[in-house]
Amino acid sequence: MPLTPKPLRALVIGSSGTIGSAFIDLLENHPGCSEVVGIHRNSAHPMDYQDLSTIEEAAKPLLRGAPFQLIINTIGILHSADWMPEKKLDDLNPAQLQTLMQINAIGPGLTIKHFSKLLDPAGSVMATLSAKVGSIEDNRLGGWYSYRASKAALNMIIKTAAIELARTKPNVALIALHPGTVNSRLSQPFKGQQIGRAPLDAAQDMLNVLLSLDKEDSGTFISYSGERLPW
Ligand SMILES: NC(=O)c1ccc[n+]([C@@H]2O[C@H](COP(=O)([O-])OP(=O)(O)OC[C@H]3O[C@@H](n4cnc5c(N)ncnc54)[C@H](OP(=O)(O)O)[C@@H]3O)[C@@H](O)[C@H]2O)c1
Repeated sequence: MPLTPKPLRALVIGSSGTIGSAFIDLLENHPGCSEVVGIHRNSAHPMDYQDLSTIEEAAKPLLRGAPFQLIINTIGILHSADWMPEKKLDDLNPAQLQTLMQINAIGPGLTIKHFSKLLDPAGSVMATLSAKVGSIEDNRLGGWYSYRASKAALNMIIKTAAIELARTKPNVALIALHPGTVNSRLSQPFKGQQIGRAPLDAAQDMLNVLLSLDKEDSGTFISYSGERLPW
C-alpha cells in the first residue's frame, strides 16, 4: 500500500532548478497535493550547500508547518565555471572532488539528517536525486570521477539512514532517485537538449513512482521508470 496519503503536503528542496521547478509546477496542480513549499539558496529561508550551517537553519522555520508527507531534494551539480567532469585519472583534482562531495553528498546527507524530522511518521517519503552513474556496479564507461564518487557516497548515506529510520519510523521511506537524462542546466553541456527528456515529463514519471512507494521500498535506488537500480 502506498505510504503517502491524499491529500499530502510536499516540500521541494532546490526548487530553483530545472527538475525542482518542474516538481513545483506539477505538485501545485496536483489534486492529491494540498500544499507545496519550495526552498532553494535564494528563497526566504535560504539553504546553500557552500555554507552547511544553513541546512539546519532552513529546516527550523519549516518545523512549524510540519509534517510533510513528501520531501524531494533536487540539489546537485556536475560542472562549474572552473571545471567539467574528468575524462581521465590525470584530470582528478582536489578542488573538484571536494566541491562535488560537499554539494552532492555532504549537503544532501545533512539535509536528510535535519529534514527527516519534518516527515510524517504516519506515512511519508523523502527522495534525494542521485544519478545512475553513481552506481558502482553499473560503471562500465569510467570517467566523471568526482560526480560518480559523490553520488555513490550519497547513495550510501541514504541506504544507511533508511536502515536506521526503519527501526524508529517504519512508515517513512528514504530513497535515492535517478531522473534519467533530463534537458536541464546540468545536462546542457552534454547534449542535454538533444538527448534529455523534457523536465515536466521526467518529473511526472518520478512523481508517479514516489506516490506508489511502500515501506519495503525504503533504502533502494530507483529510476524514474520505477526500475530498481544496482548500488
Ligand atoms: N539533468 C539530468 O540529466 C540529471 C541526470 C541524473 C541526475 N540528475 C540530478 O538531478 C538533480 C537536479 O538536476 P537538474 O538537472 O535539475 O540541474 P539544475 O537545473 O542545474 O538544478 C540544480 C539545483 O541545485 C541547486 N544548487 C546547486 N548548487 C547549490 C548549492 N551550493 N547550494 C544549494 N543549491 C545548489 C541549484 O540552485 P541555483 O538555481 O541557485 O543554481 C538548482 O536548484 C541533481 O542532483 C542532479 O545530479 C540530473
